[in-house]
Order: sequence, then C-alpha cells, then structure tokens
Amino acid sequence: MDRLSIIGGTPLNGRIPISGAKNSALKLMAAALLTDEPVTFHRMPNLADTRFLSELLQTLGVEVYWPKGENTCRLNAAELTSTIAPYEQVRKMRASFNVLGPLLARAGHATVSLPGGCAIGARPVDLHLKAFEAMGADLKIEEGYVKAAAIHGLKGAQIVFPFVSVGATEHAMLAATLAKGETVLENTAQEPEIADLADCLIAMGAKISGAGTATIRIEGVETLSGTEHNVMTDRIEAGTYAMAAAAAGGDVTLEDAPVEALTALVGLLRQSGVTVDADAEAHTLRIQRNGSALKATDVDTQPHPGFPTDLQAQFMALMTVADGTSIIRENIFENRFMHAPELSRLGADIQVRGREAVVKGVSGLKGAEVMATDLRASVSLVIAGLAAEGETVVNRIYHLDRGFERLEEKLTGCGANVRRRGEEDE
Ligand code: EPZ
Repeated sequence: MDRLSIIGGTPLNGRIPISGAKNSALKLMAAALLTDEPVTFHRMPNLADTRFLSELLQTLGVEVYWPKGENTCRLNAAELTSTIAPYEQVRKMRASFNVLGPLLARAGHATVSLPGGCAIGARPVDLHLKAFEAMGADLKIEEGYVKAAAIHGLKGAQIVFPFVSVGATEHAMLAATLAKGETVLENTAQEPEIADLADCLIAMGAKISGAGTATIRIEGVETLSGTEHNVMTDRIEAGTYAMAAAAAGGDVTLEDAPVEALTALVGLLRQSGVTVDADAEAHTLRIQRNGSALKATDVDTQPHPGFPTDLQAQFMALMTVADGTSIIRENIFENRFMHAPELSRLGADIQVRGREAVVKGVSGLKGAEVMATDLRASVSLVIAGLAAEGETVVNRIYHLDRGFERLEEKLTGCGANVRRRGEEDE
C-alpha cells in the first residue's frame, strides 16, 4: 500500500492551482441522472471519489466519457438501465447515496443501499428520507436498502429541516426539480456547493431560487435538458494549502481560489498572525509567514458561513505549533478528532474532552510514522509533517487520493520534500 514520505522543515514558496471541488462534483454528477441529454462538466477533479461515482453511474446505464487524467467529463443518462445502487458501492463512498433522489424523480423508483456509519460519526440519512416522504414517495427499508417508489411522480412539498444538513438540502433540491408543483425547503444549508449545484440545475432548465440562503424554492418542471458546467473550485483544498503554507512558513499564492467562500478561515489565519492577501476579483489568496510566531486561536466548527468541519483537522495541525493554548470545538460530527492521537505522535500536546480538543502549542514537531482514518485527518498529518523536523511517513494514503488532486505535485512545486513510496520502494 502506498505511503507518503515528507521531510519537513522547508518553507513553501510558489503558486498552487486549486482544483474543482470534490463535494460539489459528486452532487453535480448525480444531477446528470435527471436528464436524458448529455451534461458536460469542466474542472472535474480527477479523484478516487469522482472516478468511483462515475463507475456507479455506469452501472445505472449512464454513458461516461472521461479520458484518464482529464478534467472534462461528459455524462449521458439517455437511458437508465438500472435503478439499484448496491451496498458494495454505497459503502465505499457515502455520496453514492445521492443517486436515490435523482433516480426516484426521473424513473419513479430506486433501490439504494443505506450508507451506514463512517469514521467521523454515525451520519444517519433520516432527513433525506423524510424529505422524499414529504414529496409523496413510498419508502421501505429492507435488508439495509431503501426501496423508494413514487409511481405517479413526486409532489412539491413544504419541508422544514430540524437542523442544517448539506446532503439533505442538496438531495431534496435534486429530487424537487422534477416534482409536480412547488417545493419550499426551509432551514437549508448555505454551503457554496449548494449554489453551485443550483446554478447547474438552473442551466438544465430547473426553476430554483434562494440557493445559498436558508430558504430554497423549487418549482418542478416536466423535464430537464443537458448543459455544460464549470465545477466551482475547492474551498477545502484551498484552505488546506493555506494552512500548509502557514504551518511550514514561506510565501504561497493559491490560484483560482474561491476567496469569498473562505472568509471564516482567512479571519482566523490573520488572528493567528499569518499574513493573508485575499483578492476576490483575481481569485487569489496569498499566504505569507516568514519567521513570525503563530498565535494560538480558538475555533468552533459551524455550518457555512462558519468555520467548516472539513478544515478542523488542518487547523488543529497548525495550532500544534502556535504560541499558547487553543480550544477547538467540533460541532458537526461527533467523532472527528481521530487525527489528535496521530498528531501527538509527532510531539503535539492535545487533550480531547468530548467535543473539544485543547491544543497546547509546542516549540516544534518531530517526524514520525502515522496513519489516518479519513481524508481530512490524513491531510492534517501532511501539514504537520511539513512543519516537523525530519521524516514523517503517512500510511493509508488512499484517503488522500479520495479528495486531493495531484497533492505531491502541488506541494513539491512549492519546494516541499514529499514523495509517494510504494511497497516496491520499501
Ligand atoms: C457533507 O456531508 C460533506 N460531504 C462533508 O465532507 C462535510 O463534512 C459535511 O457536508 C458538513 O459540511 C459531501 O459533501 C460529500 P451533513 P453531509 O448532512 O452532507 C447529521 C469530506 O471530508 N445528519 O451536513 O453528509 C450528520 O450526521 C466530507 O469531504 C443527520 O443526523 O453532512 C452530521 O452530524 C466529510 N441526519 C450533521 O447532520 C441526516 O439525514 C451534518 O451533516 C443528515 C445529516
């Protein structure tokens, strides 16, 4: 199994282009199921997760044209040959569950495996299912599968989410595009990926207003057409490299960065003593830290526009080398501190108490062999490795390949000493 070797202690200097957003891409790809015309995506990130979803779509009958290594992909769901998403595929990647709504809306029925829990928490899908029921779907849960039917089509509904869920908001929005009548979604998530999905659906002929706010209105249409769409750039990838530059020191400019989507992080980095030049018009974010100390800063994860849970592990890695004590509170997922004991292997001083982690900054980290359980946790270890003295070896890097396109290339382009080692190199 591949591992990543990082020799830390070198500042990062250079430019890093930001790729298309994984979490937007996965829902956009599901949207292609809603039409019998081709949908072409540009800036599609080449990741294990997006490639994996394209395989699932193929098993449903979608024609996929996506040459290896390219960032343009065309999906054509002219004919659906199956409406079943099996356990094996949904288990491997939770976002596969998002095919349920589009299949139900387009074909009137679908059988999709329940995703089950994962490393960061139980992650139920009850809000998704309640939304489909409110739209008139008949749902049964049998042998770990959701069997959904709406023989006469879905109907518009008024749905008030009891708390904010990104996935449930997107899933309900996808399904409502083809429902009869108006759907009003309230207390919706406001993550930028939701507006990106809405923009694509609107270009396909959907009638949606309010995406990106707490109330979304969707007037169902009979059919949707094909379109071309540029996937928004990845705010989590951009935030990750911003923190890598802050931790290792140096001067890095992120190109094509979704600057406005990163306001919470930019504020915290500045509070921590990092110089950040954010240029929303040029879509660049310049991160500089040359020898100055980092200041411990507290953080609390929140739904957008608050600080994203997907950047919490990376921020923790940064705080391990700050002056003072920082309190990191995780409000979104109940078990998202698995990186803390691994960071401690590099010499970090972290105490986890329930939903809070108390990070006492140390004067320096020392490289060690570590392992991670999820995507963002893995990359937090890469950040810590870049700041540490000596060699850090990150195991199980398939997690990184799920969500970071050309990670080694982007980091080595800025002078980092990062190398992928296969078993044959051992
Ligand atoms: C999305 O997950 C992202 N995944 C996550 O990124 C991200 O961390 C999360 O949103 C929050 O921003 C994708 O977009 C593919 P939620 P999602 O529904 O939609 C609970 C990454 O690393 N909940 O907003 O699953 C849930 O358990 C991933 O890229 C229910 O209880 O997140 C969680 O505690 C990890 N019932 C909270 O709500 C439901 O029906 C928020 O989850 C749905 C959610």
